[in-house]
Amino acid sequence: MADSNPHFLEALRDRPRRLQRLAVLIVVFGAAAMLLYPLLGRVLQDPPHPEAVEEGLPPVDRALLPVTTPVPRGPLWRERAELGKRLFSDPMLSPKGMACSHCHALDGYATLDRPRSPDRLGQETARNIPSLLNVALNSRFGWAGDLRTLAEQLDRVLRNPRHMASSWEFALAAIAAKPEHAAAFGQLYDGRIEQSTFTDAIVSFEEALATPGAPLDRYLAGETGALEPDAIQGFRKFREYGCIACHQGRNLGGNMTARFGVLGNPFEDGFAEDPGLYAKTGREGDRHVFRVPGLRNVALTRPYFHDGSVSELAEAVRKMGRYQLGQELPRKDVAQIVAFLEALTAPPPEILR
Ligand code: HEC
Ligand code: HEC
Repeated sequence: MADSNPHFLEALRDRPRRLQRLAVLIVVFGAAAMLLYPLLGRVLQDPPHPEAVEEGLPPVDRALLPVTTPVPRGPLWRERAELGKRLFSDPMLSPKGMACSHCHALDGYATLDRPRSPDRLGQETARNIPSLLNVALNSRFGWAGDLRTLAEQLDRVLRNPRHMASSWEFALAAIAAKPEHAAAFGQLYDGRIEQSTFTDAIVSFEEALATPGAPLDRYLAGETGALEPDAIQGFRKFREYGCIACHQGRNLGGNMTARFGVLGNPFEDGFAEDPGLYAKTGREGDRHVFRVPGLRNVALTRPYFHDGSVSELAEAVRKMGRYQLGQELPRKDVAQIVAFLEALTAPPPEILR
């Protein structure tokens, strides 16, 4: 029987030789991988920016890498983000006719150029409106930084009497009543108009507000000419002074809270009194503690601080030096840090263009 199939026999005879060859290959690849691994590790750890290395900058924080272009969270993500944008701009979701976009204007940078948020009667409230660009890179939300997810934030803002003054019931009914929205939910969420799908659409939109491609991102990716010499010096000072201890990560902030006034008391120097996180926790240690804001596009999102009381970026940097570091920063250092902060400006996100 075996004779009737010579190929089968040949294959049997060949087998040990093939196994041998396979074993040799495995050994060779293994050795190559072991040799290359440390090399590869170095390449992965050190972002290529020769100028910075030449000037003896400490190795760049790996977390300070470019904002990535929003990665679709699924095949329908883009369409869901577009739906989120329409819901964001719809005043019918609030019984007071308030849309998210009334305060977070979608004219390119998703904030209003005025010191404090208006309430629904157009009167000023106590706080500045944060830009929502790159908001999905944050892990703490709101000036107090007590909110930990965008879903939680949406629940809060929707029901907040000073913001949307609405309810889930009201908003979901308004969506269902509008044929255009109902059709979109039919197409993108199997017709489920619920808190979870509404939240998903809004969060998808917020994710699409990332702004990749700032000069700093291009510089860290190896384009050494992307930063002006002043900005490079500013980058160095931003790290040497320790701004980066708080303004850290891909959004240069947005992921921790800190006392406003580590040294000195800004509230005795013109800032409007605000208990910060204390108002949420009641713990004395949380008084004047605020979320460290992300600094991407900061040159375009004036005015600054929780009360919007500072309108010049250089002045904001000086105040930070004074109250967070206990130093009067020299004029030149302020100018260079401002040049660095200006290099955090990227084109507006595609979804707002
Ligand atoms: C009346 C003005 C107003 C309206 C309307 C409004 N917001 Fe805001 N938004 C603010 C203010 C002010 C803050 C900062 C609040 C605070 O922390 O005290 C804020 C904070 C946020 C944040 C947190 C940003 C961060 O960096 O931590 C998000 C996200 C947000 N709003 C989304 C929305 C969405 C979504 C809607 C609509 C459902 C909305 N906002 C409606 C004024 C408004
Ligand atoms: C100890 C932590 C800490 C350090 C260090 C620190 N900051 Fe801040 N920064 C904060 C906090 C907290 C806020 C928000 C304060 C507020 O509005 O009440 C803030 C706000 C800012 C703002 C205003 C942003 C906006 O959108 O309103 C700028 C600009 C800024 N910091 C730059 C810097 C620079 C430059 C340095 C270094 C010279 C620095 N910070 C050092 C914690 C810090």
